[in-house]
Amino acid sequence: MSELNLILLGPPGSGKGTQGERLQADLRLPYYATGDILRAEVREGTELGREAKQYMDRGDLVPDEVIIGMISERVESHEAADGFILDGFPRTAAQAEALDEEVERLERRLTAAILIDVPDAEVVHRLSGRRTCEKEGHIFHVDFDPPKKEGVCDVCGGRLIVRDDDKPEVVKNRLAQYHTKTEPLVSYYEGKGILRRVDGRQVPEEVTERIRALLATLQMEEQA
Ligand code: AP5
Repeated sequence: MSELNLILLGPPGSGKGTQGERLQADLRLPYYATGDILRAEVREGTELGREAKQYMDRGDLVPDEVIIGMISERVESHEAADGFILDGFPRTAAQAEALDEEVERLERRLTAAILIDVPDAEVVHRLSGRRTCEKEGHIFHVDFDPPKKEGVCDVCGGRLIVRDDDKPEVVKNRLAQYHTKTEPLVSYYEGKGILRRVDGRQVPEEVTERIRALLATLQMEEQA
């Protein structure tokens, strides 16, 4: 396929990070997850990280102007010349419009916005059992995807922690933010004809297979 510029869309805990990691390995494209980028800034104690943390700890969205610059510089970078995978961006109408402008300026186009759809009750269950690798961000679940050794990342040996924003009261606000500010992007991308839906309630392997099938269809459509 000439170029693959993908967006992973979906509520918190729908599996964007889990699928993003697999897609990145499959497609060998740069993967930009705004949540991971922000958490790295928080860990490093940068000014951006200190500002973002106040919003993240409450489950609110970080202001658009902070996020848009962060992603624009990556999308226009040399490493993203053959495509990119965005996870957690865009999340507001202003972010979606800024991305459209950026892509147009680069004379490129978005290939697909893949919506991983999961109901709220499932989100709460998933996030209460999520364990995240402190060192490299690899994702596990105590029931659905347990690490071989409790508390230790299978991939890099890092310590597994519970994210600060996975506390039940914060998860509730993150879901509310999703429904009011991010869910409208589903019809936005539907209107542009690039929305693709995947049922995120299935096991991770099945979700991966569905996404692979969807990308294969896009490729065939392009060649037709
Ligand atoms: P971010 O880190 O992006 O959080 P999120 O969108 O809420 O998504 P999550 O990382 O919680 O979930 P996920 O969909 O990646 O699911 P995962 O694969 O981990 O953002 C955090 C914060 O940063 C935001 O609240 C905001 O403050 C700020 N921010 C980020 N981007 C921003 C933006 N653009 N604008 C403004 N602010 C922004 O899976 C969850 C769990 O379920 C795991 O334990 C996993 O093992 C398990 N699981 C995954 N798939 C399945 C499956 N199919 N079946 C069973 N279990 C599964």
